[in-house]
Amino acid sequence: MTKTKVLNVGIDLGTSRSVIAADNGIRTFVSSYVGFPKDVVSRKMLKTEIVFGDEALKNRLALDLYRPFDKGMLKYSDSSEHPEESKKAKSVAKQLLEHLVDLATESQAGDLTLRGVIGAPALASQKNKKHLLDVAEEILDDVMVVSEPFAVAYGLDMFYNALIIDIGAGTVDLCRMAGTIPSEDDQITTFKAGDHIDEVFLDLIKTKYEKANFTVTMIKKFKEENAFVSAKGERVSIELPVRGKPTIHDVTDELREACRAIVPEIVEGVRKLVAAFDPEFQDALKQNVVLAGGGSQIVGLQREIESYMKKTLGYGKVTKVEEPLYAGANGALMLSRDMPDEYWDTLKSRCKKNVIGIVGD
Ligand SMILES: Nc1ncnc2c1ncn2[C@@H]1O[C@H](COP(=O)(O)OP(=O)(O)OP(=O)(O)O)[C@@H](O)[C@H]1O
Ligand SMILES: [Mg+2]
Repeated sequence: MTKTKVLNVGIDLGTSRSVIAADNGIRTFVSSYVGFPKDVVSRKMLKTEIVFGDEALKNRLALDLYRPFDKGMLKYSDSSEHPEESKKAKSVAKQLLEHLVDLATESQAGDLTLRGVIGAPALASQKNKKHLLDVAEEILDDVMVVSEPFAVAYGLDMFYNALIIDIGAGTVDLCRMAGTIPSEDDQITTFKAGDHIDEVFLDLIKTKYEKANFTVTMIKKFKEENAFVSAKGERVSIELPVRGKPTIHDVTDELREACRAIVPEIVEGVRKLVAAFDPEFQDALKQNVVLAGGGSQIVGLQREIESYMKKTLGYGKVTKVEEPLYAGANGALMLSRDMPDEYWDTLKSRCKKNVIGIVGD
């Protein structure tokens, strides 16, 4: 048998953005949207049968638009009540993953063995992990699912006394690193993340400015440019149409309140993970809290968590990762690279498949 070249990839299939980092140096992402032209006109206009990412969002009026993940998981995959929708979400996720892998391999000549590690929410159920593996099965040759914040920690070389908080769109995942693969007790997932901020922000603006006309996409973009939690700061205003006329609306208090809506569960998670840690190492853990994910860019969040930690735990030092967008995929890629060939072979023989979930198994 001829041995093909192995290409390692690290993948973060996110609720909002899906990211890939590959051995060949390619790193890229797409927004987690997939669209299918609605009719002959849209097909002729778009000249394709499928549209991904921001391009899909931009053309959404001409498309049936899907977002395959919600709350960090493949939609409908944890219940058997919506079999059709679940099947559709899976097939859309597959197309999205295929597209990501194509982007990372299009310049690659010759036969490749694709070996990948995929990040999943910290406490995704076994069933959900299994669905992720099904999605990847036909696209990657070898695949492993790991907890997303664990992948982040791995990529940063933070194996010991570190607490990672990955603030995404669907979930906030907290993970305590204590020198081993984290267990269920080391992890907490909360569902108040970026999407929740958008919902709260939307409701608050609707209540204050009844006549303004807007969509969640518009205010999400505005949030990403202006998000903050600090008590003081500049006023922020958004331009929204009122009966078709662009009108300036001050949304400072609404944006702050919406961004703050995710804080109580995050700080409670930090408190729990610290309090339940070996008392001898609690101080070291408190000194090493690291924010990752898109939500880590909220201005003032670092300080907010530190001041809460000071109040409840006596002390806290919070930092942010340098590359919030790529931290998960980078770590997943490093994991994929670091797993020896024999390890992958053992996995295969043990599972009689090319797949396995490791965290929580
Ligand atoms: N500068 C910013 N300030 C605040 N929020 C931001 C910023 N940039 C992105 N976000 C928000 O971060 C979230 C996306 O982050 P990320 O890409 O880490 O999530 P994801 O991996 O897709 O989601 P999940 O991990 O929950 O599946 C979105 O809610 C987005 O609006
Ligand atoms: Mg994520």
